[in-house]
Amino acid sequence: MRLSVIGCGYVGLVTGACLAEAGHEVVCTDIDRERIAKLNGGGVPIYEQHLDQILMSARKAGRISYTADAGEAIRAGDAIFICVGTPGLELSRALSAYSRNSNLKFRVASNPEFLREGTAVGDFFHPDRIVVGVEDPSSAAELREIYRPILERSFQCPVHNGTCPPGQKVEFLVTTISSAELIKHAANSFLALKISYANVIADLCEKIGANVEEVTHAMGLDPRIGGKFLNAGLGYGGFCFPKDVQAFIHLSAKVGVDFDMLKATERVNKLRIDRFFEKIHQALWVVKGKHVAVLGLAFKPNTDDIRFAPALEVIKRLLEEGAVVSATDPEAMPRTKALFPQLNCHEDPYNALRDADAALICTEWDVFKSLDWGRAGNLMARRLVIDGRNIYTPQGMRELGFEYYSFGRE
Ligand code: UGA
Repeated sequence: MRLSVIGCGYVGLVTGACLAEAGHEVVCTDIDRERIAKLNGGGVPIYEQHLDQILMSARKAGRISYTADAGEAIRAGDAIFICVGTPGLELSRALSAYSRNSNLKFRVASNPEFLREGTAVGDFFHPDRIVVGVEDPSSAAELREIYRPILERSFQCPVHNGTCPPGQKVEFLVTTISSAELIKHAANSFLALKISYANVIADLCEKIGANVEEVTHAMGLDPRIGGKFLNAGLGYGGFCFPKDVQAFIHLSAKVGVDFDMLKATERVNKLRIDRFFEKIHQALWVVKGKHVAVLGLAFKPNTDDIRFAPALEVIKRLLEEGAVVSATDPEAMPRTKALFPQLNCHEDPYNALRDADAALICTEWDVFKSLDWGRAGNLMARRLVIDGRNIYTPQGMRELGFEYYSFGRE
């Protein structure tokens, strides 16, 4: 089918690229002319695993194109994916007002995406479910047709090179538009709640000498609970969870529904940074003048996204308290340096750790998991690690002569 994608941000690009890879003809547009020029020149404005590869193959096959002319993009598509923030209800009103004097009749559907940054391409091709909120059966049929390659698994998977692990049948769920919109908020808020729950358990573990990993692992083996999103630490960040939790709190309050547990979810999450600083103060006493190395800036691994990343708040407070801060991250340094020019950024983690009085782990990148801490310890001024993501074992670090702090573990 011929499809238009409005918005070449993160969701628009992944959606456009994956739909083109699945065999559709896609025209993308954005109000940012520079972005369109970059894409037309073969550049990729965001970092996302596999995205450059599929954009290139779709371009070569002539299945994806970009234009700054929104009208041209819209006229090209049988269906238009709006991948920018648009209140659904106002959209219907605007479309009927603008098309009043023409033969065009727009139908609106809501198709929430459940893409996680860092694994978005894989998530698109191997979804748990596809949700379409529609007003009429023909929209559902059209959307089913668009997603047919995914539902029938008749695509060349760019993630698994054609040998995808066997997966369950993808559910194609047809709902009302309101339900579709609620599903997205409800799912994200529940996952955020799960993380905050694990974080309170971690605090409790510290008080009574239990181990949060033992507790959450055992909890997660119950299929009614599930083991995912129970990792304790610095809490959630990113553009989606903080924003969706807030939107859900707001929406519930507006319609008179008490959703206090989400306010608690948010409060617990904000307090994670305080809890981290309690550990920092306990270990360093005085932060002023100390050299602190921050390992990890992105809100999670495999992305360069720093929006609402816990590391930003950590750096802000360290600087306010007078620390000298060095930092390293495989992808997110340029964006962070733009916010904090006084930050000493290093591509090589060992250089960031040189002469440091403490290392703080803020993002669980694989490169940090496999660091040689024996070597790092020889470079540091003091063997001290405060781990905000619980990526090392307390025993292993202590055996290497480190003073080691983490969340919910002794
Ligand atoms: C999230 C959802 O997982 C996607 O399904 C959804 O489509 C997307 O938001 C969205 O609304 O567009 P994302 O924000 O990319 O995806 O990141 P997640 O992998 O969900 O992680 C969110 C945050 O929670 C990260 O900061 C991560 O470090 C933190 N987290 C995650 C924990 O602190 N503990 C965990 O156990 C899991």
